[in-house]
Parts: sequence; structure tokens; C-alpha cells
Amino acid sequence: MELGHPGLVQKLVARIERGGPISFAAFMEAALYDPDFGYYMTAGPRIGREGDYYTSLDVHPIFAALVGRQVAQAADEIVSSGEFMIVEMGAGKGLLAEQLLNTYRRDRPEILARLRYLLGERSPAMLETQRQRLRELMGAGVRIDWASRLDAVPADSITGVFLSNELVDAFPVHRVVKRPSGLREIYVGWNPEPSPGAPVALRGTHCSVDAMGHSTGHGEGKVGGRFVEIEGPPFSPALEAYFARLGISLEVGQQAEVNLQALDWMRQVGVRVRRGLVVTIDYGHAAADLFAPTRRTGTLLGYYRHTVSDSPYVRVGQQDLTAHVDFTSLALAGQDVGLEVTGFTNQLHFLTGLGIESAFTGLAPESPQSAAMRELLRPDGMGTTYKILIQHKGMPAPQLDGLRTRPYFLDPLMRLPSPPRGEGQGEGHNAQNTHPNPLPWPVASEEQRAAPERENISAVP
Ligand SMILES: C[S@@+](CC[C@H](N)C(=O)[O-])C[C@H]1O[C@@H](n2cnc3c(N)ncnc32)[C@H](O)[C@@H]1O
Repeated sequence: MELGHPGLVQKLVARIERGGPISFAAFMEAALYDPDFGYYMTAGPRIGREGDYYTSLDVHPIFAALVGRQVAQAADEIVSSGEFMIVEMGAGKGLLAEQLLNTYRRDRPEILARLRYLLGERSPAMLETQRQRLRELMGAGVRIDWASRLDAVPADSITGVFLSNELVDAFPVHRVVKRPSGLREIYVGWNPEPSPGAPVALRGTHCSVDAMGHSTGHGEGKVGGRFVEIEGPPFSPALEAYFARLGISLEVGQQAEVNLQALDWMRQVGVRVRRGLVVTIDYGHAAADLFAPTRRTGTLLGYYRHTVSDSPYVRVGQQDLTAHVDFTSLALAGQDVGLEVTGFTNQLHFLTGLGIESAFTGLAPESPQSAAMRELLRPDGMGTTYKILIQHKGMPAPQLDGLRTRPYFLDPLMRLPSPPRGEGQGEGHNAQNTHPNPLPWPVASEEQRAAPERENISAVP
């Protein structure tokens, strides 16, 4: 198995040799977004049958149609006339935009007439795919635009909906582990010693790379060495503060990911909303479930050609890296900038509330269409692993069909776990296992289980 894209491995090794171990977040940032060699920054199929993983958008167009139905329902409550905006960040191949806008073209021309669809995308390769995919709609007069960065969108300027599907799980995460001495951060170093059986670094002039960036030269130029994990003090108090805000103490030996970029992103999004919703769709959990003691090793995984890897140190730059989203922290970060939680649900209940059942009418149960739609709803898969957080700002909480059938067994954002016995004292928490609920909505419970990770989906038509 390859260690990774040779150019990227060289770059990372040189950086570590120069400046010492780097945070895992810096490593993941490079693996995914290095401008020359990062997974998302180079051309390649990435998402879909020919790529490394599927998202709901690849599974069946009903997903985008129903997201569109939800946005349309909210549109009149947000603004009954005049311009309405959808801002989609991390649009990948542009499937959500294409499918949603085509649904409006067919069924809701009155919304399309006042809609402006703005996309924000970090990957130049994905950006190009989006432009190609949306060309026909633009030619037909649909107003579609791109923002080079979120900073380019002025504060308090968006009347409409911020939309994302599987954006937040693609942000680089810090990794931490709890030790008796306290919270430690996991850094990435480089051990130049060969290790038997370990992936091999390819360096030097003899290393060749094919059009996809995969190493093909396994002879001369091969040197040993591997990335190694090194524990150290947290790079900033922000990591301790993250768990303190949640009232969560990891158990000794427990590892977890901390997505600080997600908090920053949510706050940046929130300040840009004047009146409207933020709809965040991703796999993840409320914090109490994500950081439950049963989840000892966190949720970080790699995806390569529809197989899952638990090592981020293979195929660096060639496999996707991703971690589950902590929706409680997203909700709290939104609250800092005036975003109130409208609701939190899972994909099964969201799509059911929006009427997916009617799409099964007339379909044979064994048909590929029917199988694909069931895949979106599977209670032991996408239906429950994927969550939808909806927040509103500048308006009263809207009534939304997607939040109609509440996952009463789950509802969630805020059941905070009890600290392990003996902890809590000295941390500013109540030693009686009564963590205050930091959110102004009720505390309820989600079943605790190790959820299946991003699905290996088979039923894609
Ligand atoms: C997992 S893919 C999801 C793509 C698409 N939404 C889908 O569901 O198929 C994540 C996408 O987010 C993009 N992305 C990551 N960080 C971003 C950021 N800060 N701003 C805009 N796009 C970003 C990546 O380049 C990639 O296209």
C-alpha cells in the first residue's frame, strides 16, 4: 500500500524535518487541501461510482428534490417577495444545485424567478465540475454565481438559506486523547527508519506518478520511513475550552476529534444571515453521543475507492479523510451569532416529513429506483447516521415539514453525559453529575451506539 502522493509526502516530511511535528489538523489540511497535491485540489472523480465514496446526492435525485421542497416551504416565510438566496458551500460536483434547480424549473418557477443561487467551493477541480454541470441552467437564465470565499459575502447580507451537504465533515480536525495528566493533542511526526510491512515513501527523481497522482515507480528512489503519532500539550486552550463548553470529560485513554474550523465556519455563516435559515446536512451526532465513552477511538476514517481505511497515514493525498460532526457544538457556535435552533433530526425523519413515501408509489419494491430511495432511509445506515440541523435568524421559528416527524427516540442536541466519578471537581462542574444544559432547548436522549460510518452504498441506480 502506498504512503501517499510522493510530492505531498516529500513536502510534509520536509516541513516536519524543518519545524518538528505538526498537529493532526495541519496534516489533514495538507492531505485534503494542499494547493498542489491535496486530495480535493487535484483532478479526479473523488465522489460517486468512479470515485471513493457516495453522498446522498449520488444515491437518488429525490434527496435534492426534497431538500428543495424544504427550502421552498421556508422561502415565503423568509421573504414573501423580492430576491431570495440559496448559498451552498462545499457543493462538490454541483449535484444538489443542479437537481434542486431543475426541480424548481419544473415545479416552482415562481421561486426560481426570484432566486439567486450562490456557490462557495474550495477545490478548483470541483469548481470547474460545478461550472460545467450548471452551464445549461445558467444558459436558461437561472441566476447562479460563485463566491471566491465566504469573506467575500458581506455581513448581514443574506436573505435566504445557507445550505451544505457533507461540508463540515471535510474540515480538518484536531485529534486529542485523554491521559491521567489531562488532555493531550496528537501530532504527526516522521520516523525515517524503515518499518517492516509499513507503507513506503517514494522519494527522489526515480519516483514516477501516473495521471491520477498514484505512485507507479516502486523500484529505485524508494526509501523507508513512516508518519508517526506523537502526543503533546494541546496547541491552544481552545481544545480544552471546546469540551468545557459541552461539559464533557473524555475518559482516560479515549480519543476524539475536535473540529475547530466548524465552529469558525458556523459563526462566519451566522453573521452573514440577515433573515433566513442555515441547513447543515452531514453525518454525525449530538456531542453526548459522539464523545460517549463507548467511542474510544474517535470517528476519523479514510475512504479510497469505496473501501474504508482507519489509517490516515496511507495514500496521503489520495484518500479522503473525514470525521463525524459534533452538531451540539455547531448549534452552540451558531447561538454565539444569533442563530437559533429550529430543529435537529435525522435523514429518515427529514425525508419522511417531506413526503418521500409518495415517490415509492407505482414502483416495484425490487426496482433500482426503489432500492436507492430505501438506501437514503435505512434505519441502520444513512437514515440515522446522517443528520440535519436547521437554525434560523432574524425571523420567528418557521414550521418545516422536514422537522414534522420528530425522531423522538433521538432528539438530541443536548443530553450531556455525566462526568466519570471523581471528575468534575476542580473543573468548574457540578460534582453531582448534574451538568447544566448550556442550550435553551430541552435535554433529551439519543440512543448510544457506534453508528455505521459513511455507508458503503450498493443501491445506486
Ligand atoms: C465531502 S465533499 C461534499 C460534496 C457535495 N456537497 C456532496 O454532497 O456531494 C466536501 C466538499 O467541500 C469542499 N470544501 C471543503 N472545505 C471548504 C470550504 N472551506 N469552503 C468551500 N468548500 C469547501 C470540498 O472541496 C468538497 O468539494
